[in-house]
This record gives sequence, C-alpha cells and structure tokens, in this order.
Amino acid sequence: MSGAPRSGRRLSGKVVIATHNAGKLAEMRTLLAPFGIDAVSAGELGLPEPEETGTMFAENAAIKAQAAAAAAGLPAFADDSGLCVDALDGAPGIFSARWAGPAKDFAGAMARIASELDGRGATDRRAHFVSALVLAWPDGHTELFEGRVFGDLVEPRGSAGFGYDPIFRPDGHDRTFGEMTADEKHGIDWLKGEGLSHRARAFVALSRACLAPAR
Ligand code: IMP
Repeated sequence: MSGAPRSGRRLSGKVVIATHNAGKLAEMRTLLAPFGIDAVSAGELGLPEPEETGTMFAENAAIKAQAAAAAAGLPAFADDSGLCVDALDGAPGIFSARWAGPAKDFAGAMARIASELDGRGATDRRAHFVSALVLAWPDGHTELFEGRVFGDLVEPRGSAGFGYDPIFRPDGHDRTFGEMTADEKHGIDWLKGEGLSHRARAFVALSRACLAPAR
C-alpha cells in the first residue's frame, strides 16, 4: 500500500459511500475495511439518488459522488460500473442496472444478453466490466480511478456476488464471478498492488493515491 498521493489529499475519518446498491455497498465496505475508514452509505443518510444523466461511467460516478459530498458535507465515493459486451457494441454498458428494470431482475437481464447475441448470430462472447470510482470532497475537488476486467460470457453459474456475476468468467479463471467468494473476486494483492475485479482494480489505484493503512 505504498505510493505517493497524487493530490496530496489523504482520506480519513468518516466517508460516504454514494450508492443505494446493497451489493456494491457490501463490496466497498469490505475494500475499505483495512483502512480504518468509517463508511456510511447514502441510503443510511437518507440522501436522494441523483439522476444519472452522463453518457460515460466516469460522468455518472462524478454526479453521484459530488451530490453526496455536497449534501453530507463529507468526502464521498461513488462507483459507476457495468458490463460491456463486445458483440453488442458495448451494451448494456452504462445501462447495466437499467436492463434489470425496477425489479432488479438480473436473471432477465442476463437472458436478454443471451437473446440479443443469438438474435445477431454472434459467436463472439468477449466482454468486460468497467468501474469508474470517483472520490469527491465537499469543496468540489474530485479524483477519478478506473478499473477493467476482461473475460468471456458463459451460461449462468453460481449464486455469489450480484448483478451479472454468474455469466462472467474472467480471463485466466475457470469459475465465474458468481462462483467466487468476495475475496477471490476482488483478488487483491496489496504488496503487488493488483486486483482482479474491475472495482478492486479501481480501488487499489484509489487507495494508493488517497488512503493510508489503519495503524
Ligand atoms: P450502477 O449502480 O449504475 O453503477 O449500476 C451498475 C450495474 O452494473 C449493477 O447494477 C450491475 O448490474 C452491473 N455490475 C457492476 N459491477 C458488477 C459486478 O461486479 N458484478 C456484476 N454486475 C455488476
């Protein structure tokens, strides 16, 4: 966990995790645990969910982080993430959550990916997850960290994780994210400064710049 801070701003104390997604909240809390950060979620603070009007992951992450930091008067993290399927021109991409609808029907969203691939007669099953992680301070200062993980789409397997995890098998692995424990999915090696999941990769970059290990 070494490395010089890029901005000179170190994070400590209380931080808002600007998400109303329980799966992402749990992952962020796990990732923050080694740093002694007191993480409170936007949902717990009763903060409204801003509309994600951006056309890129980074824009939507900044909208969420800045809104939470301004409303709470605390530094805030937001992750905007999604699954990009090569043969679908990057869809669902920033619409990954919306493909599951208000009922958060990810079985349906995964079935839609399969049916759209079939509809196009596509045999290419390459895909990647993207995580854009933005850290915003109440004075408007922001920092962006991005992580990606590449792999193949397979038939749904496993019930761990959330969202599209069951259909994503990362390169170099036999199991899908849905078949991995949270630790395996993050795959963080602090000494090497590496991670496996898109969110872990973005988080390792952020931690090197802005976090100090708990004493
Ligand atoms: P967001 O809350 O707008 O960033 O929505 C991201 C959506 O992308 C989630 O609701 C999931 O559908 C999908 N997604 C992002 N990260 C992951 C992941 O690690 N595993 C599975 N699905 C993910």
